[in-house]
Amino acid sequence: MNDINRTLAPVGVFDSGVGGLTVAREIMRQLPNEKIVYFGDTARVPYGSKSKNTIIKYSKQIIRFLKTKGVKAIVVACNTASAMALEEIQPETDIPILGVIKPGAKTAVEKTKNKRIGIIGTEATIRSNIYKDIICEKDGSVTVVGKPCPLFVPLVEEGWIKDPVTREVAKRYLDYFRQEDIDTLVLGCTHYPLLRNTIGEVMGESVTLVNPAYETAVSLRALLQEKNLAAGNEHRYEGNMYDFYVSDTADKFKHFANSILPFHIEDIGQINIEEY
Ligand code: DGL
Repeated sequence: MNDINRTLAPVGVFDSGVGGLTVAREIMRQLPNEKIVYFGDTARVPYGSKSKNTIIKYSKQIIRFLKTKGVKAIVVACNTASAMALEEIQPETDIPILGVIKPGAKTAVEKTKNKRIGIIGTEATIRSNIYKDIICEKDGSVTVVGKPCPLFVPLVEEGWIKDPVTREVAKRYLDYFRQEDIDTLVLGCTHYPLLRNTIGEVMGESVTLVNPAYETAVSLRALLQEKNLAAGNEHRYEGNMYDFYVSDTADKFKHFANSILPFHIEDIGQINIEEY
């Protein structure tokens, strides 16, 4: 592939399902010249309660699929897959791969003043201790406290974003941080940025919320520039900038996507991911 064709190639973004659309949405907003191929593993979601080996196997299959689409870089939009599989999958491909954990962890370290950071995520992400490890590598004087909030994912998928039930669940989970005196909280799961207002209200103004989706798009820009892969304005694509694929029926995905993306999507490809 020559240099221009390489810059014109799409960025692959994948998640266990719909949640990674929060990351794709940020990339669309911050890097409007980049074409995206998004894959949501709707047949095998959730990843948050699965084992490391299973998540590595799934992630490898998805990378093989994305490669068939000629992607120039891959964003692992799923916190759980970034936590469990990134290290294993990275050496297997020559395509640059970016996860969501490092960018979120870096920002949390920059934001905290009292050096006490909270992390919320799936059970697998919190159990992996990866946020803690990366944060403490950057600054050993920081204390990190993690809390899994598994009910947030189905609540978001049900569309209960501003709902008294969700608020009550948030209060129950986040009460855990009351004695911890954190001043920064990382929204360490794809779905949580959609609950930002509720989480912010429960935590209060003294706590800064870090959205790894935003930080990942910032890091992707830097990565593409560093590798001379960034698409320029002059190379703007004709036709579809964004392609979406799922591993199960597309209806629920389409409904969710159309509720959070700034444009309407109609065509979603369904593939058998087990073939990859
Ligand atoms: N995408 C997952 C994450 O960010 C949440 C949903 C799941 O458990 O698969 O951790």
